[in-house]
Amino acid sequence: MAVYQATVSAPVNIACIKYWGKRDTKLILPTNSSLSVTLDQDNLKSTTTSRADPSFDRDRLWLNGHEEEIKDGGRTATCIAEMKRLRREVEEKDPKQPKLSSYPVHICSHNNFPTAAGLASSASGFAALVASLAFLYALPASPSALSLIARQGSGSACRSLFGGFVAWEMGTRADGSDSLAVQVAPREHWPDLHALICVVSDAKKGVASTSGMQRTVETSALLQHRIRTVVPERMAAITEAIHARDFPTFAKITMADSNQFHAVALDTEPPIFYLNDVSRAIIALVVELNRASVAAGGTIKAAYTYDAGPNAVIYAPAANMREIVELIVGYFPQTEKFNDVFGLFSADKPLSG
Ligand code: PMV
Repeated sequence: MAVYQATVSAPVNIACIKYWGKRDTKLILPTNSSLSVTLDQDNLKSTTTSRADPSFDRDRLWLNGHEEEIKDGGRTATCIAEMKRLRREVEEKDPKQPKLSSYPVHICSHNNFPTAAGLASSASGFAALVASLAFLYALPASPSALSLIARQGSGSACRSLFGGFVAWEMGTRADGSDSLAVQVAPREHWPDLHALICVVSDAKKGVASTSGMQRTVETSALLQHRIRTVVPERMAAITEAIHARDFPTFAKITMADSNQFHAVALDTEPPIFYLNDVSRAIIALVVELNRASVAAGGTIKAAYTYDAGPNAVIYAPAANMREIVELIVGYFPQTEKFNDVFGLFSADKPLSG
């Protein structure tokens, strides 16, 4: 008997221009476009196996060994239903195809990093789920077409369907058919850009992105300025910087956008704080490193960025990484006392496309 099963890994992506705010909460349509870098497959990733079998009684999902409920009408159910719809189209065109769309699926997913700690686990998780079903169903769909479905699992997941530098274009249509991910440049375009992830805390984050975004959209005046004026200009400028491999411009925009995202969180009622004292100390270190370098006639050496949690991601040219790691480890020694609150990984590995 044939076995219908596929396993796929999808890496985390870290945004340089942040997505924060939905204009449609069901379809997950954002209030602004965003842009990210997809990390190397060997580092932070979700690995997902999907299996279709007529003997299964219903769709089921396991996350890191624990079964999760698939709620009717929820995001996971929506992604599975959309993927089965695409499979049905294949079966209708070619009646010889096995009717996999009518079989229940069992989906088993594993993250090799802390879940829901502001390390974008939902991004890699939903990207891997959609990609594994696409392989299982042998769909002819492009990564951009699949991004339309991953987006409905978790917005930022749409960007993890591509490697390298990826934009999520917000789109204008009410049905979301033009709100999708496109590759700005493949990883090989800029192999010298590395990422360092500083795990300040792997505890579950305080305010989940869904409720945080909703509160920000409802209460922040700064968000309106951000989405109308700031982000469109930054999307154009950072795209140009990536094409030109212009690190100082890329770094300035990345840090400014991280700062504004956290300012928008603070401008929310009640305010949301994702950074902690260690996060702020790392910002101060990077600012000082850059100031000293520029003062000595050099250029910006590193860029920090933070998502909805206290963990820092530092982008820098490969040649600067050793100095940055030594600086951070010097200020935050990996002593036993510090181990639970501060871990480092992904130090010197290049990102991959
Ligand atoms: O996709 P979500 O709902 O986990 O939202 C992610 C939002 C940020 O990580 C803070 C920014 C981004 O663009 O990834």
